Amino acid sequence: MPATVVVGTQWGDEGKGKLTDLLARDMDMVVRYQGGHNAGHRIVVDGEAFALQLVPSGVLYPHITPVIGNGVVVDPAVLLAELDALSAKGIDVSRLIVSGNAHLIMPYHQELDRLTERFLGKNALGTTKRGIGPAYADKSSRVGLRVQDLLDAKIFRQKLDVVLQEKNLILTKIYNRPAISATTIAEKYLEQYAPRLAPMISDTVAVVHDALERGERLLLEGAQATFLDLDHGTYPFVTSSNPVAGGACTGSGLGPRDLTDIVGIAKAYVTRVGAGPFPTEVDGDMGELLVERGHEFGTNTGRRRRVGWFDAVMARQAARLNSLTEIALTKLDVLDTLDEIKVCVAYEANGVRYDYPPYHQSVLHDVTPVYEVLPGWLTDITGSTEYQQLPAAAKEYVKFLEKTTGVTISVVGVGPGREQFVRPS
Ligand code: GDP
Ligand code: IMO
Ligand code: MG
Repeated sequence: MPATVVVGTQWGDEGKGKLTDLLARDMDMVVRYQGGHNAGHRIVVDGEAFALQLVPSGVLYPHITPVIGNGVVVDPAVLLAELDALSAKGIDVSRLIVSGNAHLIMPYHQELDRLTERFLGKNALGTTKRGIGPAYADKSSRVGLRVQDLLDAKIFRQKLDVVLQEKNLILTKIYNRPAISATTIAEKYLEQYAPRLAPMISDTVAVVHDALERGERLLLEGAQATFLDLDHGTYPFVTSSNPVAGGACTGSGLGPRDLTDIVGIAKAYVTRVGAGPFPTEVDGDMGELLVERGHEFGTNTGRRRRVGWFDAVMARQAARLNSLTEIALTKLDVLDTLDEIKVCVAYEANGVRYDYPPYHQSVLHDVTPVYEVLPGWLTDITGSTEYQQLPAAAKEYVKFLEKTTGVTISVVGVGPGREQFVRPS
């Protein structure tokens, strides 16, 4: 049965939360496959906003089983606080299943994330300082603690003592910070968090495969995005996991042939938070306008997002990297008041034209975008309920993006609300 992936095609915040929520209507299970609480997925239901970090966006529907897959890094304090906040809003969170193989974010990960960013100074990446990079680094170094370790106090303490020796040397000798006490961490993780998390911990590989075998429909919810991918993004200005669709397999335990549909989420323009190349970035009044109309501030961090024009070069690359079967275009309404809209159709650098991003970052830094200018529609489209109601110029814009990216656009967002979308026929 179908397993659909929702993947960001830009630098994050494309509206994956809203699309996951939309598609989850017809699904049975929603699985997060990578990232952690660096994600902020905002969903607006009947005017009420939910900003999810770790809990899969399908949680708002009672018929969905939300799953946190093995590829996610979990800060238990954040997860429990998020579950409590959802419960307080009347959402049933008892169905959540958490992979025993997911790695834990520990207090020293957050501390080291903050310290290394400060140490890098003007070369800082602009991380979310949530401990994501250090947690994945420990996973790769094979000194990470996993969710299943919460279920065995002896093993947890053994592993913690070993890893903390090295972490405390780094904290005290390199960064001149106080050492962290293993006992304090163990008390919190084993006495406060473990008893609450224990009933949710399971073998999620078995869970997802059993669901597929029962004929259930699975949605794999990506966090971050293609160009924040550790392998395929604008390294080093990336996150430390693999948001691309391939990561949906490694991060959930599904096999490549289990994936049937790959929905790329793209904003009708582009945003980016943190440092790194951004060829179509727009400053000045136009930049301000897009930030203001798009409310381009981090869902959980509150950071101002950088903004720019739609970049078809990056979108084509995203189509290749993810095997996109379709694109869901979000925030078209943000462009309502523009009389002209630019779309980057190629790059130029040193007399060479690029239809796909140059692999060498030094070249990418220096490219000049080649723009096509399309007419705006100067009409409020936020009330549209049918694609045919969109002004001709808005439909032309959508058609142009389909042509230049080579991918069919199946959904167009016209506002943040759950009902604010139209489907091109
Ligand atoms: P995610 O990280 O990809 O889930 O995206 P975020 O939730 O961080 O950011 C997307 C923002 O755009 C959120 O505030 C959404 O409520 C909002 N949004 C999503 N789709 C639309 C749309 O079609 N129009 C408008 N105006 N806002 C949208
Ligand atoms: P969602 O899922 C936008 C960015 C950070 C930084 C880089 C590395 O809401 O789209 P990290 O803390 O992951 O080590 O930071 O990645 N970043 C995001 N940008 N949306 C996100 O998530 C992001 N998660 C991380 O700003 O540039
Ligand atoms: Mg976000």
